[in-house]
Amino acid sequence: LFIHSTALNELEYLHNTAVCVDGKGTIVAVEKDCDEDKAKQTVFPRLGWVEAEVEVVKAEEGQFFFPGFIDTHIHAPQYPNAGIFGDSTLMDWLDTYTFPLEASFSDLAKAHRIYNRVIRKTLSHGTTCAAYYATIHVPATNLLADLCHERGQRALIGRVCMDQTPPAYYRDESAEASLAATRASIAHIRALDPTHSLIRPIITPRFALSCTFPLLQQLGTLAAETGLPIQTHISENKTEITLVKQHFPRSLTGAADDSYAGVYDAAGLLTARTVLAHAVHLTEGEAALVARRGAKVSHCPCSNSALGSGAAPVRRLLDRGIGCGLGTDVSGGYSPSVLEAARQAVLVSRHVVFMGEAGGGRERAKLSVEEALFLATRGGAEVVGLEGRVGWFGVGMEWDAQLVGLTVVREDGEVEEGDGGGDVDVFGWESWPDRVAKWVYNGDDRNTKQVWVRGRVVHTRK
Ligand code: GUN
Ligand code: FE
Repeated sequence: LFIHSTALNELEYLHNTAVCVDGKGTIVAVEKDCDEDKAKQTVFPRLGWVEAEVEVVKAEEGQFFFPGFIDTHIHAPQYPNAGIFGDSTLMDWLDTYTFPLEASFSDLAKAHRIYNRVIRKTLSHGTTCAAYYATIHVPATNLLADLCHERGQRALIGRVCMDQTPPAYYRDESAEASLAATRASIAHIRALDPTHSLIRPIITPRFALSCTFPLLQQLGTLAAETGLPIQTHISENKTEITLVKQHFPRSLTGAADDSYAGVYDAAGLLTARTVLAHAVHLTEGEAALVARRGAKVSHCPCSNSALGSGAAPVRRLLDRGIGCGLGTDVSGGYSPSVLEAARQAVLVSRHVVFMGEAGGGRERAKLSVEEALFLATRGGAEVVGLEGRVGWFGVGMEWDAQLVGLTVVREDGEVEEGDGGGDVDVFGWESWPDRVAKWVYNGDDRNTKQVWVRGRVVHTRK
């Protein structure tokens, strides 16, 4: 059984189907009404495959293949802080917990230990692609790229640019220094993977408040020159928004207004390749601008709740045609799991009152399980510029996938020896949509049995 999104609110269930993946990790056939024998007799010969050389992986009872998750926003160096917040909100959380930890990544041995763990952990939760923020350090950032490449996780790797926020102990010395370091890291990552088979650099101004306007502009120019994607934060927290208005008046930016989105737009950073994290408090005017530019949004519900930032109006963004994906935002988010982000996206949407033109109030704001899974896969692919390569199963797409296994409860109430445990029990009478819903509400890495990126096995649950 293969399950994937065919539309925002629609999952397709491909029972009795063979998906054939070639040696490069590309899907070359999706054959419906096809069992193993039929595949061997008719599909393999058509593909010119020799049976003895083909590895067959089958989903057993209670198992299904699902596209790998795409984490559109995660801070790799913050992983050791996951779950630690005290009673902070964004600005004091950054000062108290985040900047001191990130600053310590000048120590490459520490970076190695933590980045190794982050990659292992995210892969074990089915994250086949991640848009990572690293730190300001070029060696540690490049190491993160090396490790993703080695381990086989698809990734966008961003050296964090920040030339003005306090603290003085953790920032670029100048806009020029920030740009030079960014170029150095881009060069390393491009040399590592010239064809972007797995790894890509991403231009990463941390957020408006951590950059001078000249740096924002220079990064906008760099993005235009290189065609590289951009990632940053926007309108996460009310205090942050007030400070952005103070720091970036129209007189400085030349923008039409003093909105947060206007600052990025004036710097050339609002593009169709821009990933904007959070977008909790965008005004209607800002949302319209983001939509016009074709910029995308990374929805980070775990973080928005944990830091008390608010509940992002995802339906409003989707209705405007803004591409949305999910982000764990570790460690603003407490969990490295995109499944947890999907679950929280569903739950948080129940606390949003939709104010769109079509009306509908609370009902309209609700995200379904199917929609959350779309955001976790296809939506995410669009956000990071990989639509057409990953996010669903079709001929020409790459095999980034997870084998999900649920616990099958036998007639006698026991489970098979070797069941991996977990909290998703199925009794046999549930429909497949019901089982998928059970997975979204109760699943975790115990259900993630095996994970592939570009056809390569990158995680197997012991
Ligand atoms: N805004 C600026 N930096 C950060 C960060 O590291 N995490 C979150 N959640 N918001 C930010
Ligand atoms: Fe973040």
